[in-house]
Amino acid sequence: TKHFCVFGNPIAHSYSPFIHELFANQFGHALSYRRQLATEYNFASTVARLFRQNLTGANVTLPFKQQAFRLANTVTPEARDAGAVNTLVATAAHGLLGANTDGLGLLYDLKRLNVDLSGKRVLLIGAGGAARGVLRNLLDEKPEVIWLYNRSPAKAEALAAGRSRIKAVTHWQPVTGVELVINATSASLNGDLPAVPDSLLASSAVIYDMMYAATATPFIRHVQKIAEPACYDGLGMLVGQAAESYRLWWNCELPQIDPVIQQVRQQL
Ligand code: ATR
Repeated sequence: TKHFCVFGNPIAHSYSPFIHELFANQFGHALSYRRQLATEYNFASTVARLFRQNLTGANVTLPFKQQAFRLANTVTPEARDAGAVNTLVATAAHGLLGANTDGLGLLYDLKRLNVDLSGKRVLLIGAGGAARGVLRNLLDEKPEVIWLYNRSPAKAEALAAGRSRIKAVTHWQPVTGVELVINATSASLNGDLPAVPDSLLASSAVIYDMMYAATATPFIRHVQKIAEPACYDGLGMLVGQAAESYRLWWNCELPQIDPVIQQVRQQL
């Protein structure tokens, strides 16, 4: 049996153990995966202690992704770009390796949904950890441009600086022909909507909200009031990032994502 856990605070409602158990069933792997509550003060020492004991790997969720980045001995390029780690792997060669699988998780889900990014104009809303965590992987798919809109423009401008395919939105007028809108803000948590023009949301073919919920998220509900684009929530991304973590830990093929999404959806 290989041992894993997910660190977070709060953590009681994490679906990660369920998801990883479903993956393990696909391969016949023997896995133990549990939730681990931590605090800002004991996160680092708890990670060290549990890896000393028997952990093969761990997931890291809010609010510890930045701390996990700092304590990893080596990090992947995605994690370096994001300044955040959601996956820790005990390795012989590199000590504690920190990866960020959120971006690939999003790409796996977009692929599943037949959303092709190449040559497309994309609007990414938000410039916090969630947006930073997916930018590199989105760029790898060769979109024509990623417009980056954030409530606080300076953060979007900092992320776009020196990257020709990323443009910070300061005025909406040049932003046209957007075919994919991705909401990477936490605005929904406060019942807010990001200040993006309705016309832009209404004319996009696809809307993707990284948030997920049992019913439509506030952002998706808003879009569905004004138009009928294809709308997807972030549950597929959650399962996708887990699948990539699983692949890293077990050094196996990517687990099947689709059936697991259906099974988690039934639990929401
Ligand atoms: P995360 O790791 O989830 O991205 P974060 O780093 O705190 O968390 O970033 C949250 C993102 O959601 C930011 O882009 C934030 O905008 P600001 O940079 O202007 O704070 C955005 N956000 C949060 N609440 C919002 C709201 N009510 N309206 C619009 N954007 C919001």
